[in-house]
Amino acid sequence: PIGNSSAIFLHRFWYFNMSGNKTQNYVVRREEKFGVKTFDTMPVTVTRGRGIFLWDVDGNRYFDFTSAYSAINQGHCHPKIVNALKAQAETLTMTARAVYNEALGEYAQYVTSLLGYDKVLPVSSGVEAGDMALKVARRWGYIKKGIPDNEAKIVFAKGNYWGRTLAAISSSTDLVCKQFYGPHMPGFLIIPFDDLVALENILKNDPNICAFMVECIQGEAGCVVPSPGYLKGIREL
Ligand SMILES: Cc1ncc(COP(=O)(O)O)c(C=O)c1O
Repeated sequence: PIGNSSAIFLHRFWYFNMSGNKTQNYVVRREEKFGVKTFDTMPVTVTRGRGIFLWDVDGNRYFDFTSAYSAINQGHCHPKIVNALKAQAETLTMTARAVYNEALGEYAQYVTSLLGYDKVLPVSSGVEAGDMALKVARRWGYIKKGIPDNEAKIVFAKGNYWGRTLAAISSSTDLVCKQFYGPHMPGFLIIPFDDLVALENILKNDPNICAFMVECIQGEAGCVVPSPGYLKGIREL
């Protein structure tokens, strides 16, 4: 309380540690009080990062083997990237697709030639990219393959994980992701991972399939690497 100097001292002591950072206790309790819990978080409270390293509020240093779940595999605060971000932020915040801007075409040209694709549609997250891919596949199914309206089906591998939206959990085989969130997306079929025979059979028996969506290496399922030739076999089928 204001006016009680020892209480103010204790209050400050609880908030801040010897390095002048907020204490782990404070950070954890605040996040758990005001934030929705979606993870079993490790008891580490990170305050800054540089390259492969992270530092916690008490100054301990860690290797960041998660790379924030792979999205920042360039490392933390790379000066070249930070400078590019700053320069863009000072030039133009954003534009809608209602107008052209100099940056989008440059990025699209670069990334398609880097990865060997004809075109790119940038979106905000992994799950949105997956969802967009399914929309493209369904549209192709109706317009090019001649699938009757609303009958398109998409095949997924057991153990897949590609995000948390309703479409993504509809393809999940994990009860924790799926239970209590139905009804789920219709037209999703599941076959075992790393099984070309199962894929061949389902493709032969269902003319309304417009896509097979599969991870090259299953992540959430536990880093499951398929047999040599699996991905090539999928393409051939
Ligand atoms: C394997 C995997 N795929 C897709 C996603 C979804 O990516 P995003 O969080 O960018 O939507 C995640 C993240 O939760 C993931 O771990």
